[in-house]
Amino acid sequence: MKITNICCIGAGYVGGPTMAVIAKHNPDIKVTVVDMNAARIAAWNDSDVNNIPIYEPGLSDIVAETRGRNLFFSTDVDQAIFDAEMIFISVNTPTKTYGKGKGMASDLKYIELCARQIAHVAKDDKIVIEKSTLPVRTAQTIKSILKHTGNGVQYQILSNPEFLAEGTAIRDLENPDRVLIGGDHNEEGQKAIDALVKIYEAWIPKEKILTTNVWSSELSKLTANAFLAQRVSSINAISELCEVTGADVTEVARSIGMDSRIGSKFLQASVGFGGSCFQKDILNLVYIAKSYGLTEVADYWEQVIIMNDYQKTRFAHNIIRTLYNTVSGKKIAFLGWAFKKDTNDTRESAAIYVADILLNEQAELMVLDPKVDKETIYADLDYLKTRAPEENRKLVDVSSDPYEVCKDAHAVTILTEWDEFNTYDWQKIFDNMKKPAFVFDGRNLLDAIKMKEIGFMYESIGVR
Ligand code: UDX
Ligand code: UDX
Ligand code: ADP
Repeated sequence: MKITNICCIGAGYVGGPTMAVIAKHNPDIKVTVVDMNAARIAAWNDSDVNNIPIYEPGLSDIVAETRGRNLFFSTDVDQAIFDAEMIFISVNTPTKTYGKGKGMASDLKYIELCARQIAHVAKDDKIVIEKSTLPVRTAQTIKSILKHTGNGVQYQILSNPEFLAEGTAIRDLENPDRVLIGGDHNEEGQKAIDALVKIYEAWIPKEKILTTNVWSSELSKLTANAFLAQRVSSINAISELCEVTGADVTEVARSIGMDSRIGSKFLQASVGFGGSCFQKDILNLVYIAKSYGLTEVADYWEQVIIMNDYQKTRFAHNIIRTLYNTVSGKKIAFLGWAFKKDTNDTRESAAIYVADILLNEQAELMVLDPKVDKETIYADLDYLKTRAPEENRKLVDVSSDPYEVCKDAHAVTILTEWDEFNTYDWQKIFDNMKKPAFVFDGRNLLDAIKMKEIGFMYESIGVR
């Protein structure tokens, strides 16, 4: 089966970059990315490619090359579904905020809506691909909805989870460690798998394309994120032990990372992991384990989240304690708001939670993030519902000038590891701060020796 027309539902951090790269390497396939959010689609179609809604290094160049050639962005979801032979579902699956499984289970309402829409519109056979991260056995739900529409259309459901990390999405898509495709092990299932394999083979070596059954594929995605997050929580747990014993967590990480059974990646101690995936996927894994009665399994993985929450809280409490147990009325500069560098995504960013704790202590915050706008910062704080929106606007201000942000501050905190923070004139920042001038580096980003030479009271994670 040769695919000529692809539709992707969801023009977000996953759907946008993934389809751009597929379109780039398959110029003979028409790829249409649809979203019900008209503003988002308008931004993807902006004549200036620098205004696309997602910041990812390298993405705008690919959009410039492919948009209007074989990559299209549209709000006409029905038409795109109708025309396509293959439909990717890349909609968001946030943690449920209500009802059964609240705070843990994935909210699948957007997925179900997509399935119903496909069932309503489709008039010929379709391959439907789960791209969003989903709980294991979601394909069953999609299958069941599609099967009971009674219009004779045949569907094949594949799971093809995305492993890209934000900030490096294009690099990860162009040169992935592996591509995972799960499908039914029968003749029709195999045909669908082969059709998808062919699309990836346009630029990915065959041996990197893994095929499994649907359930293994769904569970592998959750497991990969759980293992990665566990490494961060493990090194963060050790960071506190380093602070009280005189060990240096960067030295410990380097030493253990050289053991090839452990490996050196994902051992960077930090103020805590964030992002749309780690917490959500682990909570989901915990929920699934619980729902099968596997209490010990659930508790084991939940500890990764508990450790992460503790690391964020611990960082904030250390600031308060160090600033003589009160930050009330004190200005604290926040460098970084995104959950990691090179992205404008702030979902579950540690900065939000650290800010919330300091605001509870009546601190006044001034925030700078190279890619996050003011309204997003306010929306993130408002979402917590800790205090009135007016209060957040009164206590928090935003600027893009580092010297203004740090002027008269009692402390500077680093929440995101943006490279540009290293290029600032730290002597100038020091000269204009209140003394003693504290720096709390939640990313171990700055040069500790240089900072102390300037005169800062400098503290990083896992080093004292
Ligand atoms: C360990 C460390 O590996 C070594 O670096 C240290 O110096 C001493 O402790 P050891 O206990 O001899 O070495 O064996 P190891 O290979 O680490 O295995 C420990 C246990 O884990 C064994 O029971 C092994 O069967 C089990 N294991 C190991 C697994 O169950 N699965 C694995 O993937 C690896
Ligand atoms: C993650 C997975 O890496 C990716 O494979 C999956 O598809 C989606 O979820 P992402 O959330 O975009 O990607 O970013 P990632 O690089 O994994 O970082 C997650 C969080 O962990 C960030 O807040 C990051 O700052 C933090 N982190 C990461 C650390 O604190 N220390 C590390 O060593 C690595
Ligand atoms: P991710 O990081 O998983 O890509 P995003 O929130 O960035 O998540 O993107 C998901 C996108 O999916 C959003 O832009 C949202 O508007 C879109 N979406 C959700 N449900 C539907 C639907 N039923 N039809 C069309 N678009 C949808």
